[in-house]
Amino acid sequence: MFTPRPIGTVKSPYAETREIPKGLGAQHEAQGVLEILPEFEVGLTDIEDFSHLHVLWAFDRSQGFDLLGTPPSDNRPHGVFATRSPRRPNPIGLTVVELLRRDGPRLHVRGVDMLDGTPILDIKPYLSSVPPEKLRRGWLAEAEARQK
Ligand SMILES: C[S@@+](CC[C@H](N)C(=O)[O-])C[C@H]1O[C@@H](n2cnc3c(N)ncnc32)[C@H](O)[C@@H]1O
Repeated sequence: MFTPRPIGTVKSPYAETREIPKGLGAQHEAQGVLEILPEFEVGLTDIEDFSHLHVLWAFDRSQGFDLLGTPPSDNRPHGVFATRSPRRPNPIGLTVVELLRRDGPRLHVRGVDMLDGTPILDIKPYLSSVPPEKLRRGWLAEAEARQK
Protein backbone atom coordinates (compact mmCIF):
# COMPACT_ATOMS: atom_id res chain seq x y z
CA MET A 1 0.00 0.00 0.00
CA PHE A 2 1.77 3.15 1.17
CA THR A 3 3.72 4.36 4.17
CA PRO A 4 1.91 7.27 5.78
CA ARG A 5 4.00 10.32 6.60
CA PRO A 6 2.85 13.23 8.73
CA ILE A 7 2.10 16.50 6.94
CA GLY A 8 2.27 18.35 10.28
CA THR A 9 1.32 18.18 13.94
CA VAL A 10 -1.54 19.32 16.14
CA LYS A 11 -0.91 21.99 18.74
CA SER A 12 -3.53 21.16 21.34
CA PRO A 13 -4.24 22.23 24.93
CA TYR A 14 -4.43 18.54 25.90
CA ALA A 15 -1.24 16.93 27.26
CA GLU A 16 -3.00 13.82 28.60
CA THR A 17 -5.98 11.79 27.44
CA ARG A 18 -7.87 12.27 30.75
CA GLU A 19 -8.14 16.02 29.98
CA ILE A 20 -10.16 15.41 26.79
CA PRO A 21 -13.98 15.46 27.26
CA LYS A 22 -15.51 11.99 26.81
CA GLY A 23 -18.85 10.26 26.97
CA LEU A 24 -22.42 11.23 26.11
CA GLY A 25 -22.89 14.94 25.49
CA ALA A 26 -19.14 15.67 25.46
CA GLN A 27 -18.50 18.99 23.74
CA HIS A 28 -15.31 19.59 21.78
CA GLU A 29 -14.87 23.33 21.83
CA ALA A 30 -11.12 23.43 22.51
CA GLN A 31 -9.05 25.55 20.16
CA GLY A 32 -5.82 24.32 18.65
CA VAL A 33 -3.50 24.84 15.71
CA LEU A 34 -2.77 22.50 12.82
CA GLU A 35 0.90 23.21 12.11
CA ILE A 36 1.66 22.11 8.58
CA LEU A 37 5.25 21.37 7.53
CA PRO A 38 6.77 23.98 5.17
CA GLU A 39 7.07 21.52 2.27
CA PHE A 40 3.27 21.00 2.29
CA GLU A 41 2.18 24.63 2.80
CA VAL A 42 1.33 25.19 -0.89
CA GLY A 43 -1.24 22.43 -0.43
CA LEU A 44 -3.22 24.80 1.84
CA THR A 45 -3.91 27.17 -1.07
CA ASP A 46 -7.62 28.20 -1.03
CA ILE A 47 -8.40 26.39 2.22
CA GLU A 48 -9.36 29.69 3.94
CA ASP A 49 -12.84 29.74 2.38
CA PHE A 50 -13.95 26.49 3.98
CA SER A 51 -15.65 26.75 7.35
CA HIS A 52 -14.96 23.19 8.50
CA LEU A 53 -12.29 20.60 7.79
CA HIS A 54 -11.86 16.85 8.16
CA VAL A 55 -8.55 16.13 9.86
CA LEU A 56 -7.10 12.63 9.54
CA TRP A 57 -4.48 11.87 12.15
CA ALA A 58 -2.56 9.09 13.87
CA PHE A 59 -3.35 7.76 17.35
CA ASP A 60 0.40 7.78 18.00
CA ARG A 61 0.01 7.10 21.74
CA SER A 62 -2.33 4.15 21.39
CA GLN A 63 -1.10 0.57 21.18
CA GLY A 64 -2.87 -2.52 19.93
CA PHE A 65 -6.56 -2.92 19.22
CA ASP A 66 -9.74 -4.54 20.50
CA LEU A 67 -12.36 -5.75 18.03
CA LEU A 68 -15.01 -5.34 20.75
CA GLY A 69 -14.99 -2.63 23.37
CA THR A 70 -17.27 -0.66 25.68
CA PRO A 71 -17.04 3.05 24.87
CA PRO A 72 -17.28 5.76 27.57
CA SER A 73 -20.66 6.75 26.13
CA ASP A 74 -22.33 3.36 26.75
CA ASN A 75 -22.26 0.39 29.11
CA ARG A 76 -22.53 -2.19 26.32
CA PRO A 77 -19.76 -3.54 24.06
CA HIS A 78 -19.68 -2.65 20.36
CA GLY A 79 -17.47 -3.60 17.42
CA VAL A 80 -14.46 -1.34 16.95
CA PHE A 81 -15.74 -0.25 13.54
CA ALA A 82 -19.01 0.87 15.15
CA THR A 83 -17.10 3.14 17.54
CA ARG A 84 -14.48 5.88 17.52
CA SER A 85 -12.09 3.96 19.79
CA PRO A 86 -8.37 4.86 19.63
CA ARG A 87 -7.57 1.13 19.83
CA ARG A 88 -8.12 0.10 16.20
CA PRO A 89 -6.23 -2.09 13.70
CA ASN A 90 -5.13 0.99 11.74
CA PRO A 91 -4.85 3.72 14.41
CA ILE A 92 -6.26 6.58 12.34
CA GLY A 93 -8.35 9.35 13.91
CA LEU A 94 -10.86 11.56 12.10
CA THR A 95 -11.99 14.88 13.56
CA VAL A 96 -14.18 17.64 12.12
CA VAL A 97 -12.86 21.06 13.14
CA GLU A 98 -14.03 24.61 12.50
CA LEU A 99 -11.42 26.68 10.67
CA LEU A 100 -11.06 30.00 12.51
CA ARG A 101 -8.19 31.47 10.50
CA ARG A 102 -5.08 30.66 8.54
CA ASP A 103 -1.72 32.11 9.45
CA GLY A 104 0.64 30.80 6.72
CA PRO A 105 1.26 27.13 7.47
CA ARG A 106 -0.79 27.31 10.70
CA LEU A 107 -4.53 26.63 10.71
CA HIS A 108 -6.24 27.91 13.85
CA VAL A 109 -9.19 25.64 14.55
CA ARG A 110 -11.90 24.88 17.09
CA GLY A 111 -12.96 21.37 18.06
CA VAL A 112 -9.71 19.50 18.65
CA ASP A 113 -9.91 16.19 20.53
CA MET A 114 -6.29 15.18 19.91
CA LEU A 115 -3.31 15.24 22.23
CA ASP A 116 -0.64 17.89 21.79
CA GLY A 117 1.89 16.81 19.16
CA THR A 118 -0.45 14.40 17.36
CA PRO A 119 0.77 13.70 13.80
CA ILE A 120 -1.58 14.95 11.05
CA LEU A 121 -1.93 12.60 8.08
CA ASP A 122 -4.30 14.59 5.86
CA ILE A 123 -6.77 17.48 5.72
CA LYS A 124 -9.85 17.71 3.50
CA PRO A 125 -12.68 20.22 3.33
CA TYR A 126 -15.78 19.06 5.21
CA LEU A 127 -18.75 18.88 2.85
CA SER A 128 -21.81 17.58 4.61
CA SER A 129 -24.11 15.82 2.18
CA VAL A 130 -26.25 13.54 4.34
CA PRO A 131 -29.69 15.03 5.01
CA PRO A 132 -30.45 14.92 8.78
CA GLU A 133 -33.56 12.79 8.22
CA LYS A 134 -31.43 10.07 6.57
CA LEU A 135 -28.78 9.94 9.30
CA ARG A 136 -29.04 7.00 11.73
CA ARG A 137 -26.87 7.13 14.86
CA GLY A 138 -27.03 3.45 15.81
CA TRP A 139 -26.25 2.43 19.42
CA LEU A 140 -25.33 6.01 20.31
CA ALA A 141 -28.92 7.20 19.81
CA GLU A 142 -30.10 4.33 22.05
CA ALA A 143 -27.54 5.21 24.74
CA GLU A 144 -28.64 8.85 24.59
CA ALA A 145 -32.32 7.86 24.91
CA ARG A 146 -31.55 5.62 27.93
CA GLN A 147 -29.77 8.51 29.65
CA LYS A 148 -32.82 10.80 29.44
C1 LIG B 1 -12.69 8.69 21.03
S1 LIG B 1 -11.27 9.23 20.13
C2 LIG B 1 -12.05 10.07 18.78
C3 LIG B 1 -11.06 10.73 17.91
C4 LIG B 1 -11.60 11.19 16.58
N1 LIG B 1 -12.61 12.23 16.73
C5 LIG B 1 -12.15 10.04 15.82
O1 LIG B 1 -13.36 9.89 15.76
O2 LIG B 1 -11.38 9.27 15.26
C6 LIG B 1 -10.68 10.58 21.08
C7 LIG B 1 -9.77 10.09 22.15
O3 LIG B 1 -8.57 9.65 21.56
C8 LIG B 1 -7.51 9.77 22.47
N2 LIG B 1 -6.39 10.43 21.79
C9 LIG B 1 -6.31 11.71 21.36
N3 LIG B 1 -5.14 11.93 20.76
C10 LIG B 1 -4.45 10.75 20.80
C11 LIG B 1 -3.19 10.33 20.33
N4 LIG B 1 -2.37 11.15 19.68
N5 LIG B 1 -2.81 9.04 20.56
C12 LIG B 1 -3.62 8.19 21.22
N6 LIG B 1 -4.85 8.54 21.69
C13 LIG B 1 -5.26 9.79 21.48
C14 LIG B 1 -8.03 10.56 23.67
O4 LIG B 1 -8.30 9.65 24.70
C15 LIG B 1 -9.33 11.15 23.14
O5 LIG B 1 -10.28 11.30 24.17
